[in-house]
Amino acid sequence: MTDRYILVTGGAGYIGSHTVIELINNGYKVVIVDNLSNSSYDAVARIEFIVNQHVPFYDIDLRNGDELDKVFKKYDIHGVIHFAALKAVGESTKIPLKYYENNVGGTMSLLEVCSANDVKTIVFSSSATVYGDVTRFGPTKYIPIPETCPTDPTNPYGKTKFVIEQILKDIHTSDNAWQVAILRYFNPIGAHPSGLLGEDPLGIPNNLLPYLAQVAIGRRETLSIFGDDYDSTDGTPIRDYIHVVDLAKGHIAALNYLKKLNDKGLYREWNLGTGKGSTVFQVYKAFCKAVGRELPYKVVGRRQGDVLNLTAKPDRAQQELQWKAELTVEDACRDLWRWTTENPFGFELQDYKWQEFDGLQNRLHTVQNKDLQVTFCNRGALIQDIKVGEQHIVCGFDNAKEYTLETNPYFGTTVGRYANRIKNGEFEIDGTKFQLTQNDGSNTLHAGNNGFDKQNFFGPVVKQKNGKFTLEFKVVDADGTDGFPGTLEAIVKYTIDSLSIEIEYEAKSLDDKPTVVNLTNHSYFNLSGNGTIDGTHIKSSVDQLLELDGAKLPTGNIISKTIPSTISPEVILDDCFVVDKDANAIDTRSKALQTLVEATHPDSNVKIVVSSTEPAFQFYTGDGVNCSQFGKRSGFCVEPSRFVDAVHSDNHKGQAVLKKGDVYGAKIKYEFR
Ligand code: NAD
Ligand code: UD1
Repeated sequence: MTDRYILVTGGAGYIGSHTVIELINNGYKVVIVDNLSNSSYDAVARIEFIVNQHVPFYDIDLRNGDELDKVFKKYDIHGVIHFAALKAVGESTKIPLKYYENNVGGTMSLLEVCSANDVKTIVFSSSATVYGDVTRFGPTKYIPIPETCPTDPTNPYGKTKFVIEQILKDIHTSDNAWQVAILRYFNPIGAHPSGLLGEDPLGIPNNLLPYLAQVAIGRRETLSIFGDDYDSTDGTPIRDYIHVVDLAKGHIAALNYLKKLNDKGLYREWNLGTGKGSTVFQVYKAFCKAVGRELPYKVVGRRQGDVLNLTAKPDRAQQELQWKAELTVEDACRDLWRWTTENPFGFELQDYKWQEFDGLQNRLHTVQNKDLQVTFCNRGALIQDIKVGEQHIVCGFDNAKEYTLETNPYFGTTVGRYANRIKNGEFEIDGTKFQLTQNDGSNTLHAGNNGFDKQNFFGPVVKQKNGKFTLEFKVVDADGTDGFPGTLEAIVKYTIDSLSIEIEYEAKSLDDKPTVVNLTNHSYFNLSGNGTIDGTHIKSSVDQLLELDGAKLPTGNIISKTIPSTISPEVILDDCFVVDKDANAIDTRSKALQTLVEATHPDSNVKIVVSSTEPAFQFYTGDGVNCSQFGKRSGFCVEPSRFVDAVHSDNHKGQAVLKKGDVYGAKIKYEFR
């Protein structure tokens, strides 16, 4: 573990994103710079989701030296892995200047900023394309290709890589304190085994496997195989396909190698390939096997510029970097297919957009599914806005600052790790007593001072399938936060259909320590459109509640009461209604959703129906609300959850005590009819 950072340029891209994950898994700290010209912020959100860490990200073009310099000034940067480049061979032949300007210009700007900040360690993404057509020396002389094979790139893209190699060599010659690792990649394929990251080509894919994946998912009709008259076993060309995770690991090996040199400088090239060639037909068959069916193809003429064989001799990397590819083409095909089925359109989702909210980690994420538009924020995985047709029906702030103020009454947020009150801020599990932060008189409310509402969740992982959006947010709450035992991982998954939002909570301990959990959403609904809930009609068949004392804690009695059918100004409620008085389960997700409350208002066509699998719900008329745009009774809350203070009830403890190996689960649904 080092306190210094590795700056990853192009870290939101295909190879960069996988490398960031490996860096973090190996204890490196990372800052990403990417202008998103060929990638999406969603890749960064997913990186965070995978590694359970926030990763600083800057949307900066490398050619903007001033902005780049600020990043170097802000973080203690030890070295750079430089992926950022344009990379489409065909395109580079049409717009060569743009390629030189972006790739060479971007690198020069980067190197100037590096020099100015005394950063002299760089790992550069080069390509086997710098060797050009190695069969110019005869069919076998340089197959497999060693690093000593003469270079002769044949297209502008390849030439930019070659020129950058030369620039780096010259810099090292001028000042041999520079440590320069040139990594020449062969054909990277596959995706992250989580299914969350992969290649996301814009437009028609040029490369074999991305094209084939789109045929398999139904976006393209037929794969064209470019020639079967080459001198190989089946007539198709041979390439060295390397799983992108293996390739990513090659960068860690290179960094570790440079580190071992201490301050000694170096300029050296390494091939990153497997050393094993595969023909187009072999790869085609491997992918069909992963998909489970034959995919349509036709053999067409050769593609201009293609050569028979490009297989790496990876011995140098193996010997010096102690790195070797471990995964097979079959592994890559399996992972690519998982990525494709989970994300048929990559990161490009129609009707989903994100925008900055307060700088680094807080973004707003908006999805539109027909008449329903919902906006979420990473902070508390909160619901900032729900718009049904033209009507906004929840309270939310339009600036990030207000969410951080003491006056924020938990608008739209996920309350946890323990929603509602815990008496005297203490509880016992298996004879061990835990003392929590007391933030509500002598009690603990919504988990104390650092509850989920104050935390920036990782993600979201946004997907669109079968007409629905899903957004998954994750938080990892550290052992000891406000006195709670155990490191808790919680996932909040929203599913947005055309007229409903379903929320699924799942939480588990990451360190096997038992803890307590109670999660819900604290949205304030308002159907009147005029700033008060008065006049709202409520229909609810739930007719009992926990009797509460003056501190809003249960007395132990359950009494009969229903929510009045009209919320008139005299109706003031902050009560825990009981749906199932015998419930004692930690995971309620297998239960049927039960309707809790239906709400309408004479001035609105929208009806809200709240249902859940939970044993209780808090109904709150919002009389304590007092913040800038919103006064008392601006919204009413229906918060499905466990019994208030269940941890102190012998009969209901099981609802809220998460024992070793258990998983907490709950579902809530809001329907708008
Ligand atoms: P990619 O397009 O997915 O990633 C490159 C990233 O760089 C993108 O996120 C893009 O937005 C960013 N970028 C481009 N120009 C930038 C600029 N001026 N400032 C800031 N960011 C900028 O590509 P990839 O496949 O991940 O490739 C990464 C590197 O590896 C590239 O340098 C590429 O040439 C090299 N490479 C790729 C392959 C391959 O087959 N994918 C093979 C050999 C070498
Ligand atoms: C290309 C780039 C190379 C880059 C590499 C990885 C060229 C000349 N080279 O290599 O610089 O490093 O991608 O990004 O473009 N094929 C088909 N049908 C298709 C697509 C490909 O039959 O639709 C065949 C090709 O003929 C080739 C093999 O599949 O034999 C691999 O092609 P591709 O994925 O494009 O990679 P390369 O051409 O090896």
